[in-house]
Order: sequence, then structure tokens, then C-alpha cells
Amino acid sequence: MTLKAIAAAVSLLLCASGVASAQKAVYAHFMVGIVENYTVDDWKADMVDAKSIGIDGFALNCAPPRVDSYTPKQLSNAYQAAGESDFKVFISFDFAYWQNGTYGFCSRFAYDTALIISTLQNYSSLPGQAKYDGGAIASTFVGEFFDWAPVKAVLNVTALPNMEDPIQVTELKTSFDGAFSWYAWPTDGGNSIIPGSMTTIWDDKFVLWLTSRPYMMPVSPWFSTHFNSKNWVFICEQLITDRWEQVLAIQPQLVEIISWNDFGESHYISGPQPHHSDDGSSQWAAGMPHDAWRHIMKPYIAAYKAGASAPTVDADGLVYWYRPTPKDIRCTNDTLPAPNGISLLADVVFVTTMLTAPATLTVTSGSLPPISVNISAGIVTSNFTIGVGTQTFAVNRNGTKILGGDGGLKIASTCTTYNFNAYVGGF
Ligand SMILES: *[C@@H]1O[C@H](CO)[C@@H](O)[C@H](O)[C@H]1NC(C)=O
Ligand SMILES: *[C@@H]1O[C@H](CO)[C@@H](O)[C@H](O)[C@H]1NC(C)=O
Ligand SMILES: *[C@@H]1O[C@H](CO)[C@@H](O)[C@H](O)[C@H]1NC(C)=O
Ligand SMILES: *[C@@H]1O[C@H](CO)[C@@H](O)[C@H](O)[C@H]1NC(C)=O
Ligand SMILES: *[C@@H]1O[C@H](CO)[C@@H](O)[C@H](O)[C@H]1NC(C)=O
Ligand SMILES: *[C@@H]1O[C@H](CO)[C@@H](O)[C@H](O)[C@H]1NC(C)=O
Ligand SMILES: *[C@@H]1O[C@H](CO)[C@@H](O)[C@H](O)[C@H]1NC(C)=O
Ligand SMILES: *[C@@H]1O[C@H](CO)[C@@H](O)[C@H](O)[C@H]1NC(C)=O
Repeated sequence: MTLKAIAAAVSLLLCASGVASAQKAVYAHFMVGIVENYTVDDWKADMVDAKSIGIDGFALNCAPPRVDSYTPKQLSNAYQAAGESDFKVFISFDFAYWQNGTYGFCSRFAYDTALIISTLQNYSSLPGQAKYDGGAIASTFVGEFFDWAPVKAVLNVTALPNMEDPIQVTELKTSFDGAFSWYAWPTDGGNSIIPGSMTTIWDDKFVLWLTSRPYMMPVSPWFSTHFNSKNWVFICEQLITDRWEQVLAIQPQLVEIISWNDFGESHYISGPQPHHSDDGSSQWAAGMPHDAWRHIMKPYIAAYKAGASAPTVDADGLVYWYRPTPKDIRCTNDTLPAPNGISLLADVVFVTTMLTAPATLTVTSGSLPPISVNISAGIVTSNFTIGVGTQTFAVNRNGTKILGGDGGLKIASTCTTYNFNAYVGGF
């Protein structure tokens, strides 16, 4: 090949990959509010796990220092760890706590505008800062009314606020650059619970109205929570693979996994994080691993970044998940009623097979007879009626067992407190 031909081939490759796809990234929502005493090494341990499946960075959900005095310390630790780990982070201002109001009478700006500017100034030029279009990414939880114009007057930021309704893309005059949606679970809006499955009805509107501006699409594996202030489930039992298939179809500019470590809403995919503080969620999250969900996400993240329409499986694997009890069991010693929405759930065990070639999956759920199904190659999610007792999984190919074993938790017919979190394991 001549030099000219090589140059032509290189430019063809660059054009084919496109500018937008070169910026594709997958972030995961990280609750800074539960890591008061995290060390830089604690942060790095999470970053190693996240990077190993292709996650590029964490969205640092945080409250202002007047609410959590340790926010600056932990932002600083996170940026340091990211800078030393070839990982990226950005701040996701949690507007349950930050305010865009104008109650600071001495300030030229709405009170928190000045604080948001100084916070971004403090960290956004550090090597760990996540960027889009050359600007430092800044995001929010709710907070769509916050005006980014004064921030952008002094800092090069790409503002990707959470919008609670996609119509706001057409209405707000807040100098935003793109949007992040929180509609990662089937809902008619707000926190309304509707029967599954997940659709892209909200995503499609965001994409349409944002035109070419970046859409940060939310992906979540689960949602159940059992606090006295919020006590419900979303109907999203097979969400993890359904949702990633939707990501591959839509190919948004950015993805945010909800969440890395929100144990309270049961959508964490991190390890148990030995040094996190407990807001009461240990009642349903302790001893309920979700790590194996990361094995499902890894090939989907790779496919998304490659612009592929289907994931590539290069080793056989199986991931299962199920709740600790059938939904109608009444727990005997709970101060709260059962979560809203549970009547819409299915009493089934879920299995995602990741197969390099077709095989037969056999599931024995408690005392029910074994059920066998032939499964094609690729990533396939199947479900099986719940039986109380031990859960057993086996994958056979051509009459030889290639993987399997017992699930790590027996399904029980009694309980003291309600737990609609999922137990997740794999082989
Ligand atoms: C935030 O700003 C929007 C308009 O910019 C306003 O409608 C809303 O009331 C403000 N919120 C607060 C808490 O001041
Ligand atoms: C800036 O970061 C330092 C720690 O690196 C912290 O002590 C300080 O409070 C931060 N300031 C703001 C405004 O966040
Ligand atoms: C932000 O930085 C990028 C990269 O340096 C540059 O292309 C862009 O023009 C900057 N935007 C602003 C508003 O300064
Ligand atoms: C963090 O450490 C401080 C000082 O040792 C301690 O008082 C506090 O209870 C710890 N917080 C958590 C959530 O463990
Ligand atoms: C019920 O739960 C409370 C704590 O919420 C505990 O103190 C009590 O011993 C439990 N009762 C039974 C019968 O387990
Ligand atoms: C699976 O496929 C094999 C071979 O084609 C067939 O013999 C068997 O009956 C199938 N099993 C099920 C459960 O469909
Ligand atoms: C179980 O699998 C069947 C067949 O694929 C599907 O129609 C059904 O929606 C699944 N159930 C749940 C709760 O996902
Ligand atoms: C099963 O065995 C047959 C004959 O040995 C072989 O042709 C076929 O490729 C095997 N199938 C798989 C999925 O390994």
C-alpha cells in the first residue's frame, strides 16, 4: 500500500466510526451520600470493578456540604482516585438538596448557583473529569430548572441535567446541552407503577426533541424499596436484558446505569462496599449480591460502544436472580405494609444464558419438577415458575453438563420483614 492509500484507509475508518460514537461512554450513578468515610483506595476498588466491565466513569450524586459535610472530601477523593485509575467522574447535583431558589439575598446569583460554580471550578480541570464535546460534564437528579448560563459564562461545561419530562427539552431556557432521563423503569410518569414490560416511550421523546444533542439514557436492573417514606416496587423483573437491547436499538450518545451503589432502591450492581454507611437498607440489601448482573452488562456495554445491534458472547455463562419469597407470603414482624405494586409481580425465577452455541437449560425450582428448554446462542433471558426451596440450574450441550449448580439462597415460604430485592448469582 502507498502512503496515500494508507491515509485514505485511515480517514475512511475515522469517518465510518463517526464523531459521536467516538464520545460514547457508559457512566454509573454513585451515591456519595453513603460513603462518608471512604478512602481513596475504597474508591479505587469500585473503579477497578466498574472498569472491568467497560464502565467509563461514575456520576457522583451528592448533596451540598450544608447537608453532608463530607461532600467536598469525598468529591476530592473520587477525583483523585479517578485520576490515578484512568477512570472518569462528573458531579450529579442532587436537587432533592441543592436549590435554584433566590433566597441568598447578598448574592448576585441564586444561592446555589455560586456554590455550584465554585464546586465545579474546584474539580473540573482535574484529570479525572469526564468530558463531552470538550466540556466538563455536569448533571443533576431532578433540578431541571437550574439555569446553566451563569455557570457557562465562567466554565466550559456540558450540562446534562435530569429532566422529569421530555417535553421540558422543548420548553426550558436554561442553557442545557443535553438531557438525562430517570425513567429507567416502566411508568406513566413520576413514580406511577404500571405493569411491565419496559418500553422506550420516554426515550423516544427525548431523542426526538433533543435532535442531535446528547441523550444520556438510563439503564437499571431492578427497583424495590421499603422505607416508611417510600415503599414500592417497579415491575421490571426482566429489565436488565430488555433495557440493554433497547440501548443497542437506540444507540444514544451516552448511557447512565442506575445505579452503582444505591442499596436503598435495590438497583446496585457494585459489590457489597464494606465501608459504606447504612441508611436502613441493609434490611433488604445485606447478603443479597448483585455482582453477577455485571457479567450480563459487560458484553452489552461492548456492543453499545461498537455500535453493534447484538452482543457478542465469547464464553458460556449463566446468571440467575429471584426474590427470597413468593409475593403473597405475609411477613410476620414488619412495621411497614408490603410494598405497593407487588400484586403486579410474577412469581418466577429468571435465568440469563450467555451461550457460544445452542444448549439445553434445566431449572429445578424447589419441589417443582425440573423444566428443560433449548436455548439458542447469544444472550437469552428465560423464566420459570417459583417453587419454595433450593433452586438448581444446569446447562447441557450435546448431553454433557457444561455449567450449573445450586442458587445461593433458598426460596422461603415464611419471612419476618418484606424483601422484594433480588438475589443474583451466576456460573
Ligand atoms: C427554579 O427555577 C424555576 C424557573 O427558572 C422556577 O420555576 C422554580 O420555582 C425555581 N425553584 C426554586 C426552588 O426556586
Ligand atoms: C475544594 O476541594 C477541597 C478539597 O480538595 C475542599 O476542601 C474544598 O472544600 C472544596 N471547595 C469547594 C467549594 O467545593
Ligand atoms: C470547550 O472546550 C473545547 C475543547 O477545548 C472547545 O472545543 C470548546 O470550544 C470549548 N467551549 C467553550 C464554550 O469554551
Ligand atoms: C465516619 O467516621 C466518623 C469518625 O470516625 C464516625 O464518627 C462516623 O460515625 C463514621 N460514619 C459512618 C457512616 O460510619
Ligand atoms: C420484631 O422486630 C423487632 C425489631 O423491629 C424485634 O425487636 C423483635 O424482637 C421482633 N420480634 C420477633 C417475634 O421476632
Ligand atoms: C431440545 O432439542 C433436542 C434436539 O433437537 C430435542 O431432542 C429435545 O426434545 C429438545 N428439548 C426440549 C426441551 O425442547
Ligand atoms: C417469562 O417469559 C415469557 C416467555 O418469554 C414472557 O412472555 C414473559 O413476559 C416472561 N415473564 C416475565 C415476568 O418477564
Ligand atoms: C453436538 O455433537 C454433534 C456430533 O458430535 C456435533 O456435530 C455438533 O456440532 C455438536 N453440537 C454442539 C452444539 O456442540
